[in-house]
Amino acid sequence: MTKPSSNFDHDHLISIADLSINDITTILDLAAYYAAKLEAKADLSNVLKNKVFLTLFFEDSTRTLTSFEMAAKRLGGQVINLNLKTSSLNKGETFHDTITTLNAMHPDGMIVRHSEFGAPKVISTMSDCPVINAGDSWNEHPTQALLDALAMRNHFGKLEGLTVAIIGDIAHSRVASSNMKLLTKMGASVRIIAPPILMPEKLPSENIEKFTDLKSGIKGADVIITIRPQKERMQSALIEDNTYFDDYGLSKEKLGWAKESAIVLDPGPFLRNVQISDDLADDTKQFHYLKQVSGGVATRMAVLDLLAGKK
Ligand code: NCD
Repeated sequence: MTKPSSNFDHDHLISIADLSINDITTILDLAAYYAAKLEAKADLSNVLKNKVFLTLFFEDSTRTLTSFEMAAKRLGGQVINLNLKTSSLNKGETFHDTITTLNAMHPDGMIVRHSEFGAPKVISTMSDCPVINAGDSWNEHPTQALLDALAMRNHFGKLEGLTVAIIGDIAHSRVASSNMKLLTKMGASVRIIAPPILMPEKLPSENIEKFTDLKSGIKGADVIITIRPQKERMQSALIEDNTYFDDYGLSKEKLGWAKESAIVLDPGPFLRNVQISDDLADDTKQFHYLKQVSGGVATRMAVLDLLAGKK
């Protein structure tokens, strides 16, 4: 397999909105290439040799942080995970001074997660290296949408023409936000299904259909993405777990309302018996969560290579 060529011309990855159809295809093609290389246990350690990345996670993360670190190391890069709980921010240093200090150490890339909307974008304007958004507030989580797209493309061979239903807390979810942008751009039909209290007021595209009823929303869907109630972004609990499961939780039985060939994705962490029943969560034929996690490393390898690899 030869490495796909690319004319990717971006300094940072902040938002799906900044990417063209061609850019998204380039990332997914390279991710598929790296997935095959990982499968073959190929030595890829030259791609990011001598490159040092900083992960700046101002918000908790398990899988995204590990996935980026794994991706950089698989390509021969080094990663410094900053423990931001012990950072100088707690000693009174301003956010601006922290970032300019780190930038003066000349890292080869910064991977940023922040609870403030737009923080990675601000950091990108203050940095001389590529900045990758690993999730900001409810705004964007571009690499999650890209790895979700890879999982869909791997299964169906395409994105165009798929019907994708996103269920859950659309209002507070950066994953839903990035997915709506990516999927509409790539020609999929996108539906969102949410209780009225978790339905966003504004949508990134006019072509997205809104449903409050699960049955009609998933009818005929090829892909269903479940999104956890993002309680950390709610001022008070807007919905109870058991009511949520009755109305919006997915089980094998309810999945029968979608296409017979439908697959289910979730960015994780997923809540058993709130979002998804145990029987469905344990069925790897229909629930592609672990495939997403594996493909996530390859997707982040592609992004790191395109932004920081040797040109
Ligand atoms: C998501 C996130 O942090 O936005 N998780 C992830 O990155 N895999 C989704 C979530 O927390 O629900």
